Amino acid sequence: MSHRTTALVVAAGSGSRIGGDIPKQYRPVAGKAVLAHAIDALLAHPGVDDVQVVIGAGQEGLYRAAIGDRPLPFPIIGGVLRRESVARGLTAVDSERVLVHDAARPFLPPEVVDRLLAALDGRDGAVPVLPVADTLALGGDALGDIVPRQSLVRVQTPQAFRTEVLRSAHAGWDALIEATDDAQMVRKAGHQIAMVEGSAMLEKLTWTEDFGAAERRFAPALVSRTAMGFDVHAFAEGDGLWLGGLRIPHDRALSGHSDADVALHALTDALLGTIGDGDIGSHFPPSDARWRGAPSSGFLIHARDLVVAAGGRIDHVDLTIICEAPKIGPHRPAIRARIAELLELQEGQVSVKATTTESLGFTGRGEGIAAQAVATVRLPERRA
Ligand code: CTP
Ligand code: MG
Repeated sequence: MSHRTTALVVAAGSGSRIGGDIPKQYRPVAGKAVLAHAIDALLAHPGVDDVQVVIGAGQEGLYRAAIGDRPLPFPIIGGVLRRESVARGLTAVDSERVLVHDAARPFLPPEVVDRLLAALDGRDGAVPVLPVADTLALGGDALGDIVPRQSLVRVQTPQAFRTEVLRSAHAGWDALIEATDDAQMVRKAGHQIAMVEGSAMLEKLTWTEDFGAAERRFAPALVSRTAMGFDVHAFAEGDGLWLGGLRIPHDRALSGHSDADVALHALTDALLGTIGDGDIGSHFPPSDARWRGAPSSGFLIHARDLVVAAGGRIDHVDLTIICEAPKIGPHRPAIRARIAELLELQEGQVSVKATTTESLGFTGRGEGIAAQAVATVRLPERRA
């Protein structure tokens, strides 16, 4: 037997409390399978020499997809009970020390492994524990007696043992007695188990909402970005114009290379401004024949997609249309709804305003329409 440490990861459960199509240990958190998080933490620890995984019968495909090309030995097939999965896994362990770990605890701080291995020196077993914060009581139809919590601890994994000690504890276990972890078995066999400080990061993913919390742990902090856009188009002969993604009847048209939707152009520039990605002209050059008469809704959707691709979300857009005519008021609700639709926002996140310039300037003389827009988005902090 070598003086080595093997991590035995039990991943053979069915995750019945969470349910769903695939067992929880194969579901992704932050784009990586729960099991792979646990394995990577163990592979990265200098005190761990190798990692042996125990999977459920029929989980081979899920396992292969989860581990990719990580250098691991063939998985062992586990049993119906966790205890059986550990026992079967132990047949593949020939190291002096073993760390038994639940695949359902994906976030393993290296310090916990440090503490366990240090505590195992000269001892038969060591477990990470945390104090109990809540009041504990017996349940049932109505609240039962309080259980004093001062003397209680919550026991986590990994649990470290001298392999022979764990092996014999499993061999001598009465199969009729439930054992939810290994330390209680080793202890029952007469060995002392050291306690080291566990970690809140090690919480087991047990319920559906645990996945939401795990996902949020990895979510990058978002910072707010605000940018503006401005555009002008001149009136031309015609019988209507595009404004805010809608065709509005009028005794004039707007001239431009595309459909000349001055409002959507201002909005597009505001969105591009939030990610610092040039302006509408750099994405859709007027020199390019493809954009002749093109609907500006496509420009706005493109800008929206770029914000989303940057990991951003649009919080709010505010548009001001500046002209004497046509009157915007009657069209305002429809424009608002159309912009919300194009940006996949709620109408409450879209503001549409209009003003005249009191007959002053080019808008006041009815030579064209101007539009201003302000967009507020949230972006991952690392881009900031
Ligand atoms: N486990 C195992 N073999 C079993 C049962 C459980 O290897 N027969 C593993 C699980 O995959 C998990 C760890 O033991 O990594 C802790 O078990 P638990 O959280 O109870 O997972 P499940 O048994 O899968 O979930 P549930 O109890 O909700 O069905
Ligand atoms: Mg279980």
